[in-house]
Amino acid sequence: MIIVRTFGEVRAAAHSAVSLVPTMGYLHEGHMSLIGAASQTGDTTVVSLFVNPTQFGDSADFVAYPHNEARDAAIAEAAGCDIFFAPSADEVYPLGHRVTVSVGGVGDAMEGRFRHGHFEGVATVVAKLFAGVQPRRAFFGRKDAQQLAVVRTLRDGLRFPVEVIGMPTVREQDGLALSSRNTQIGKGVRREALSLSRALFSAADAIEQGERDSAAIAKIARSVAAATPQVEVEYLEVADSMSAAPIEEIDRDAFVAIAAKVGGVRLIDNIAVDAVTLATDRGIMLDKQSILYEED
Ligand code: PAJ
Repeated sequence: MIIVRTFGEVRAAAHSAVSLVPTMGYLHEGHMSLIGAASQTGDTTVVSLFVNPTQFGDSADFVAYPHNEARDAAIAEAAGCDIFFAPSADEVYPLGHRVTVSVGGVGDAMEGRFRHGHFEGVATVVAKLFAGVQPRRAFFGRKDAQQLAVVRTLRDGLRFPVEVIGMPTVREQDGLALSSRNTQIGKGVRREALSLSRALFSAADAIEQGERDSAAIAKIARSVAAATPQVEVEYLEVADSMSAAPIEEIDRDAFVAIAAKVGGVRLIDNIAVDAVTLATDRGIMLDKQSILYEED
């Protein structure tokens, strides 16, 4: 694996078509499953590490975001990365924040309602990665279901010739969806954080028993979440997988999404639903403790 800092170096080093895995680092098994799938394609696997300032509304949140490039490079290499691309802010934003990309309604509900400007920041940085790296394929997690819809909209709207592949959510042994932010959850509220996945799994059970009505599904999930008063729910929605617009009933492929604050840390999670079979995808559970908690 080589480590490079500029878009030009990535293109010069890639000797075949590229599979790209964009990340903000502090890698865990969720990222590793994306990198593993990318390297399985036989393409040159490029992992980008860039904590993108424009997608953080709150500068304190940006500063608190965990960062350890040497750790990330070692994990990426073990997972199958060929080119580790860790650019500076100037490389990604040579004109400052003058040129931006917006994707319209797909970013408006859920995350867009609570994190103004977030998806404009995501769409802008992903557009730069697509333009500068020129991947044939790009891998994203379904953990961020609305982001995946935003990226597909960006790809279609700007006609990037890239296949966007969504990968299942990887969860800790107890069900908590893996996130770099999990390292910020205080020990005192770690058990309470399980309320998010518990609420979603209860919604999934109801759906698999035939419930298609979004209000009924949301009521069940909210009542489970409400049993944990330390968890402050921001939204709980049933949304169309492609448009990320809330829907009243599951008459197309959908996801049930939750965002909540637990001890000051904001977490998101979702489960995917197949509209025809009403089968749900709850993701993959680790069988041992995540590398997130290994000492650096
Ligand atoms: P980050 O949060 O680092 O996530 C990088 C990729 O890993 C995203 O596609 C995300 O959906 C995926 N991912 C995160 N947790 C996962 C999990 N538990 N299981 C499976 N996949 C998971 O998402 C971003 O960075 C940024 O917004 C980015 C797309 C890089 C743009 O800055």
